[in-house]
Amino acid sequence: MKGIILAAGKGTRLYPASSSTSKILLPIYDKPAIYYPLSVLINVGIKDIMIITSKNDRASFKKLLGDGSQFGVSFRFAVQKVQRGIADALIIAEKFIKDDSVMLALGDNIFAGAEMQDLLAEAVGSGGATVFCTPVDRPQDFGVAEMDGEGKVVSLEEKPQEPKSNLAVTGLYYYDSNAAAIAKEVQPSKRGELEITDVNRIYMERGQLHAVQMPDSIYWADTGTPDSMLAAAEKIKEFQESGELVGSPEATALRMGLISNKQLLKWIDTVGSTSSAYLTRLRNLARE
Ligand code: G1P
Repeated sequence: MKGIILAAGKGTRLYPASSSTSKILLPIYDKPAIYYPLSVLINVGIKDIMIITSKNDRASFKKLLGDGSQFGVSFRFAVQKVQRGIADALIIAEKFIKDDSVMLALGDNIFAGAEMQDLLAEAVGSGGATVFCTPVDRPQDFGVAEMDGEGKVVSLEEKPQEPKSNLAVTGLYYYDSNAAAIAKEVQPSKRGELEITDVNRIYMERGQLHAVQMPDSIYWADTGTPDSMLAAAEKIKEFQESGELVGSPEATALRMGLISNKQLLKWIDTVGSTSSAYLTRLRNLARE
């Protein structure tokens, strides 16, 4: 299976913080935002990951992430020249995906909680597409799924003015190998974007869309605004004070057996900072 992280957003709602850097490189508590979706993909066991950035931010992402070997994975970088929407990521990645299935993660989406691993395993076993849904207070800000009594999705709408349910579709999507071809069928929406919701709707109409409703124990946030970034940071701090590191690609890679304790220690040494609390936690983990 392949993985894609879409990290090309302008972050206009974060100006001025996002004027000289991608919002997905900004920290959510103790690590850059992209570490969170990256950890989700590593948690699924995905080793081939394409990072899609804007032209301007590509070098910064490369500097942060390198070739992926420190996380036991391999990165490929691609540029989205024009921001044509989320579904465009599947078209950009078409040759990379080839005949594989793919998990697409939005760079600003954060998932946390121990149940995440089981939930992901359930999703990737199936054909077609899988979306992950969760109840929210303001469904009109998201893709919204309406389900029947049996948990089957009966309608999908992107940011509807009058939502048919309070279930938001989160920014993590699993697709079979038809995803790029389906994305090419999609026409631009009123806001001029190729909407991922339209891709999901095509899967739904073909009877191939699965929806997983996330349990309350899983924390999800879309971190596009100063308030949502702050709330997510506080939540991550809380999680980490009472448990393991959240959204750490190194810790996830270690747990998945993609890197050894020795490799992790060696990599921490090359980074060299002795005053980073994050690295101290990682060092302790590697020494366990
Ligand atoms: C995008 C999708 C939306 C989804 C959301 C999740 O919206 O278009 O369907 O619910 O991500 O974060 P955006 O955040 O780009 O406005």
